[in-house]
Parts: sequence; structure tokens; C-alpha cells
Amino acid sequence: MEDNYKKTVTNDTATLSVRGKSYELPIYGGSTGPEVIDISTLYRDTNMFTYDPGFTSTASCESTITYIDGDKGELLYRGYPIEQLADKSDFLEVAYLLLYGELPNKKQNKKFKNDITYHTMVHEQIVRFFGGFRRDAHPMAIMCGVVGAMSAFYHDSTDITDPAQRRIASNRLIAKIPTIAAMAYKYSVGQPFVYPRNDLNYSENFLYMTFGVPTCENYKVSPTLANAMDKIFILHADHEQNASTSTVRLAGSSGANPFACIAAGIASLWGPAHGGANEACLNMLNEIGTVDKIPKYIDKAKDKNDPFRLMGFGHRVYKNFDPRAKVLQQVAHEVLEELGVDDPLLEVAKELERIALEDPYFIEKKLYPNVDFYSGIILKAMGFPTSMFTVLFALARTVGWVSQWGEMITDPKQKIGRPRQLFIGESEREYVELDKR
Ligand code: SDX
Repeated sequence: MEDNYKKTVTNDTATLSVRGKSYELPIYGGSTGPEVIDISTLYRDTNMFTYDPGFTSTASCESTITYIDGDKGELLYRGYPIEQLADKSDFLEVAYLLLYGELPNKKQNKKFKNDITYHTMVHEQIVRFFGGFRRDAHPMAIMCGVVGAMSAFYHDSTDITDPAQRRIASNRLIAKIPTIAAMAYKYSVGQPFVYPRNDLNYSENFLYMTFGVPTCENYKVSPTLANAMDKIFILHADHEQNASTSTVRLAGSSGANPFACIAAGIASLWGPAHGGANEACLNMLNEIGTVDKIPKYIDKAKDKNDPFRLMGFGHRVYKNFDPRAKVLQQVAHEVLEELGVDDPLLEVAKELERIALEDPYFIEKKLYPNVDFYSGIILKAMGFPTSMFTVLFALARTVGWVSQWGEMITDPKQKIGRPRQLFIGESEREYVELDKR
């Protein structure tokens, strides 16, 4: 990434006064969004660290990829509003945009889609990894293991200093992640793995590998479901420096190979506070069961002494509607109508949203539905088991992780990430022999 892409080094400084001494810290502005105060010299000058658990006020990097305006509920991929991309683009075109910064022209679009299509098969030895897992293993456990194992297969694309190898590794990850995700599903249901088909587009191919049962019957992918799948992938593709993307960046900052970095991102995404919330949200809706039980769960969510939270609600950045949730609410209607599914959970979800949005607790804390609130209902209607929901999130987010990893590697200011701490433990003390304790 060229230095100072659109960064303005303002002439302003922030003055920090510490016990009678003043320090001038540079202020930088970006192309949009909050300015930053450069504190990189703070420890050298003051022998003090900043303290920001969860990085609520900390920018870890410069980036040109994705921008979120949490107050307005806006999400831009390389400047394009997510609503426009979800409506007009397709997932691989969005992948190209995130990777290279511009929408591809016809020639670039064709070549990129070819490159991905012809990398969708996995090394046949990878099949053997699945046999080591129990059939009831959580698919995310399989994803962590098999994607990490890719490091053992593609040695010719692990030299991160070589742009050509970085591009091949990126294409391999984007191309093979759907194949591995479909294999994780097939393994869990005891069906044979289905090889990819080069005559299908990315989302069609994923649905075919997941739900097709070749030789038994000729599985026809529904265009409506393939479009819905593609839209869901677009919505989940990237999201600034969220927990799993920050994990990928931190792993990559040590020089780890891209396959290992993406496996680390998958592990972080799995948590119920992050990508695991779609699975947790559907489980919560099932537990609530009927509309009349909603008030009880709203009260539980508000009770400080109850660890229960409304899954699919709230966000570190959005203090307004997550724009992805709005699109997904529409997709939910389209998919359920297409499938003729009358899922009472959709009514429970809509009523839960209505009640929560009128409740002073949620209004005061600015808690709105996020990307995980409706996605589970759609995926359940499409036939995915709940345990596959976060796998689909990881499949889509691989494009964002790879894009952010590539930006980090080419950032001239990049160095190994190594936060410090406020130490509150024991000061130095002498060892005590066992018979004296
Ligand atoms: C994703 O970062 C990203 O961009 C993530 C993501 C992406 O695309 O990568 O958008 C994907 O992870 C979406 C979020 C999915 N998670 C959930 O839906 C789980 C439920 N949500 C929460 O756990 C929570 O809202 C977080 C984790 C999402 C955000 O937590 P924060 O920013 O750390 O906020 P917080 O926990 O400090 O909450 C602020 C207050 C607290 O009350 P007080 O201590 O101030 O009194 O709001 C309350 C919380 O108790 N609160 C909730 C709540 N979320 C926050 N209360 C009830 N239900 C909730 N869901």
C-alpha cells in the first residue's frame, strides 16, 4: 500500500500533560472517519503505556479496504455502499474489489473468475484429514484443522515476500475454502464428498458440493438460493479490524504463512461474541420458541446479574442498524417465500426486534440487530444445520481476511504486533522450598 494513500498529516497536535510535563502528539486525518493521535513515541518519551482493553479507542493500522460509520449505520467496501454491492454485484467481483481496490473490467473479471474456478479442487491427500475427526465434530473444529493443514500442502505459495506467491496463496484460499466447507458438511452427515464443477459459479458450486448427491440424482441448484447465498457471502466478506481480522493481521505480522493466518482467523471467528453469534442467535430463538416468551428473555438480557445477552444484537461499532441486517431481513423474506417455508422463528425474530427497539434499555445502549440476527433463519431455511452457520461466515470472510493480510504485508510501516500491559501481579520475591510452604 502506498504510504499516505489519503492520509493527511495535519499541522495539529494533541498536547498531553503528565505530571507537569507536556508532550505534543501528531494528529493524522484519513479520507473519512475519526482522526487519530499518533502515540507511537509515548513510551519512549514518558515511560508510560496507553491502556485500552478491547481496543475500543485504538486504531491498529491504516487501511484503504473497508469503512464503517457506526452512528449512521453505513458500510463501504473500497468506497462502495454495501447495499449497492449486494444488489448489483456478485461475490467474486466483490472479492476482486476488496483484493485490488477497484471493480474489475470485463477482462479482469473473466480472468479472476477463471483463476478461482480452476483452483477449487483440494489436494486429494487433504481428504484423509477428515477421517481423523469424529462424525459429530463441530464443523468449525474441522475448518480450523484442515485450513491450517493447507500450510503443509502448498509450499510453493508460502513465501510472503514474493508477490506472485502471495497472489497464488490468496487465490487458493478463496477458491478452496468453499470446497473444504462443503466437505465438512458432507463428513458430518456421512455422505461422500462432491468434487467442484467448473461450469458453475462460485455460490452455485458451493451449494452443489454441499447438497448435491451425484450418481444418485442430478442436483439442480436453485437460482434464487444461489443468488441469496451469493448475497450473504457479499454481506459477510469484510468488516474493518474486527476480532478475527485483527487476529489474522497479528498472526501475519510475525511472518506466518497465509494458510496459518487464515486458520487463526477462523478460530477467532468461532466465538459466540463474534461470528459464532449466528449459531447462538438461532439457538436463542429456538429457546424462546414463541412470541409470548419474548418479554422474559428481554428481561434476562437487561438483568446485570444474568450473563444472557440477546444474540444477534449489539455491536462494538454500529450504534445504529447494521446495514447488513437490513438487507438480510429482505433476503429472509425472499428465501422463505421461494421455499414456501413458514418458519415461526422469523415471526419471533421480527417481534423480538420490534420489542427490543422500543425498550429504553436497548435504545439507551444503542443496541440494534447485527449481521447475525437474520442470517441464521435464512441458512436454516436453505437446509444448513446450525453448526454450519459460522462455517459460512468464515467462508465469506476469507476474502476480507486475505485482503487485509495482503494490505498488512505491503504496508511499509508494518512490524510485528507486540502490545504491552499494565502489570498488576507480584513484585520480585524469593523461591520457597517445598517443605517450607
Ligand atoms: C460480529 O466487530 C465486528 O465488526 C464484528 C462483526 C463482523 O462482521 O466482523 O460485525 C460480526 O461479531 C457481530 C456481533 C455478533 N455478536 C453478537 O450478536 C453477540 C451479542 N452481542 C454482544 O455480545 C455485544 O453487543 C458485542 C460483543 C457484539 C459488542 O460488545 P461491546 O462493544 O464490547 O459492548 P459491551 O459488551 O461493552 O456492551 C455495552 C453495553 C453493556 O452494558 P453495560 O455494561 O454498559 O451496562 O451493552 C450491553 C452490555 O451488557 N449489551 C447487551 C448486548 N450487547 C451489549 N445487552 C444485552 N444483549 C446484548 N446483545
